Amino acid sequence: MRTIDLVADLQAQSRAWRSAGSTIGFVPTMGALHEGHISVVRAAREANSRVIASVFVNPTQFSEEADLHAYPRDFERDAALLEKAGVDIVFHPAVDEMYPSGLGESVVRPGAVAEGFEGEHRPGHFEGVATVVARLFNAALPDRAYFGRKDAQQLAVISAMVRGLGLPIEIVGCPTVRESDGLAMSSRNARLDADGRHHALALVRALAGAQAAFAAGRDVTGIAASMSRIIDEAPGVVLEYAAVVDPRTFRPPAAAAGDSLAAVAARVGGVRLIDNAELGAADVVRFAAAAPSLIASIPQGVLS
Ligand code: PAF
Repeated sequence: MRTIDLVADLQAQSRAWRSAGSTIGFVPTMGALHEGHISVVRAAREANSRVIASVFVNPTQFSEEADLHAYPRDFERDAALLEKAGVDIVFHPAVDEMYPSGLGESVVRPGAVAEGFEGEHRPGHFEGVATVVARLFNAALPDRAYFGRKDAQQLAVISAMVRGLGLPIEIVGCPTVRESDGLAMSSRNARLDADGRHHALALVRALAGAQAAFAAGRDVTGIAASMSRIIDEAPGVVLEYAAVVDPRTFRPPAAAAGDSLAAVAARVGGVRLIDNAELGAADVVRFAAAAPSLIASIPQGVLS
């Protein structure tokens, strides 16, 4: 695996690969890699002859300066994991290389899909994400780019950007990887203490409750209310939002459909967690079924 830190060098390598007939899969990351990222790399590896991953902690997507500084950085560890997963090039640029004219210059302003939910709770976040992803695409020149579905609104924002700007890149969403008890893998989980780790399962119960409620009816408000109730009743967890949305527009659908998303955000002991699940997939509910303590705490009536 080669490490490249200059945009021009990465573009030159991508152009050479393309003229030799290779297809290029691209996995953007901010490092602090876990099994969720590695499964995304595997998806890229399976479908492309070359794989580029980036490790860049993007300053413009952090609403709080303290969060940017506290973000874990261990490039040696991340590079070793990427190499093992079969990445050909890791792109690891400096901030000045990504933002040669300064952080606020030539930004990509995402559309309506970035409003609400994460967009509301993290002002400026999606503008920073869309801007850096556009710049990373311009450096890697990929055929396909891969993103985890756990950040479902980010996936919707990037898909809308690619459509809106007419970029010739296929966006591929990859399934959320969960711990054995159902908690979605996230770099933030490492910041949970033992109590927080346990309390965080309220998000899993809320999504399992939503999938179970969907099996019984299509009422968007009722499903969202059942999620809120589960989180509100959980100790040590403060709800930010619980909603049912269309995965493309991030607006509530008139009636819940199998591909509608139950989306939830909450603070657990000061750590902000998000998660989501397709209502019709009945996958999160299976974790709850395997753990009686999870299922027992879903309110009566939701699972019937
Ligand atoms: O999901 C992430 O890790 C980041 O938002 C991304 C897409 C790498 C942009 O910085």
